[in-house]
Amino acid sequence: MNSATINGIEISYGDRGSGRPIVFLHAFPLNQSMWNDQVEALSGDYRVITPDWRGFGGSSPGPATMDDFADDLAGLLDHLGVTEPIICGLSMGGYAAMAFLRRHPGRISALILADTRSTPDTEEARRTRLETAASVRRDGVAILLPGMTQRLLGQSTLATRPDIVERVNSMILSANSEGVARALEAMAAREDSTGLLRNVDVPTLIICGEEDVLTPPAEASQMSRAVHGSQLTLIAGAGHLPNIEKSAEFNETVMAFLRNARTLNG
Ligand code: MLT
Repeated sequence: MNSATINGIEISYGDRGSGRPIVFLHAFPLNQSMWNDQVEALSGDYRVITPDWRGFGGSSPGPATMDDFADDLAGLLDHLGVTEPIICGLSMGGYAAMAFLRRHPGRISALILADTRSTPDTEEARRTRLETAASVRRDGVAILLPGMTQRLLGQSTLATRPDIVERVNSMILSANSEGVARALEAMAAREDSTGLLRNVDVPTLIICGEEDVLTPPAEASQMSRAVHGSQLTLIAGAGHLPNIEKSAEFNETVMAFLRNARTLNG
C-alpha cells in the first residue's frame, strides 16, 4: 500500500494499472478495500486510485469535514500528477465528490455517483449522527453492529451471501473509532449540493442498488434529474453497496458508461 503526507495527514491509497485515471471514493464506515473487485476488473485498462479518507483504513485521523476530504483528494491528485480523473464516489464518497466539485471545479473528466444523495441531513438525522458519534467515542465501533451492516446490504444479500455480510462486518470492526466519530460529525454538517449538480457539465452516471434503504432509488432519480444528460442505472438484487453485492453488474455499468463517455469527450 502507498501513502503520502497530504495536508499534514498520512493518506494511504491504492494505485494500480495505467491509462485514464479513475478514483474510487469509499463509503462510511469502510475503507478502500471495498473497491477490491473494481480494482481487479478495471486496472487492466485504467489507472485505478483508491484513497482511504483521513481516519479510515491506513490513513491517520485528523479534524474532518467534507471539505477536508475534498482537499485531501485534491492534494493526493497533485502528488500523483493526476489531472482530470474520472471520479466515482459511493455514499459518503459521493458527498466528498460533491464537495470536491464545489472546491476544485474543472478538475474531473467524468462523474459517477453511486448510492448517495445531494441533499443534507434532516434535523433528526443530524441529531442521530451526533449521538452515534458520542457512543462510538465512548464504546467503540462494535456498537455499529449488526445494525449498520443490515442497513448497508440489501435484503437479497443479507439472505444469501454470508461471505459479504462477514466482509462488511470486518471492515466496520477494523475502523478507527475517532475517525468514525469525526466522519459522522462531518456528514452531519455537510451542505446541500443539489444546486451544484445542475452545473455539472461532464458525462455523469448515477447508480443505485434497487434495495438500498439508506439512499433509496428515489434519491438517485432526483440527482439524475439535476444533472443534465446524466445516465441513471438501478442494480437489481443490491442494497447500498452494489459494487460489492453485484460487482459484475456494477463493473459492467461503469465500463460501458466510460466507453461511451470517452466518445462524448471526443
Ligand atoms: C455511507 O454509506 O457512506 C453512509 O451510509 C452515508 C450516510 O450515512 O449518509
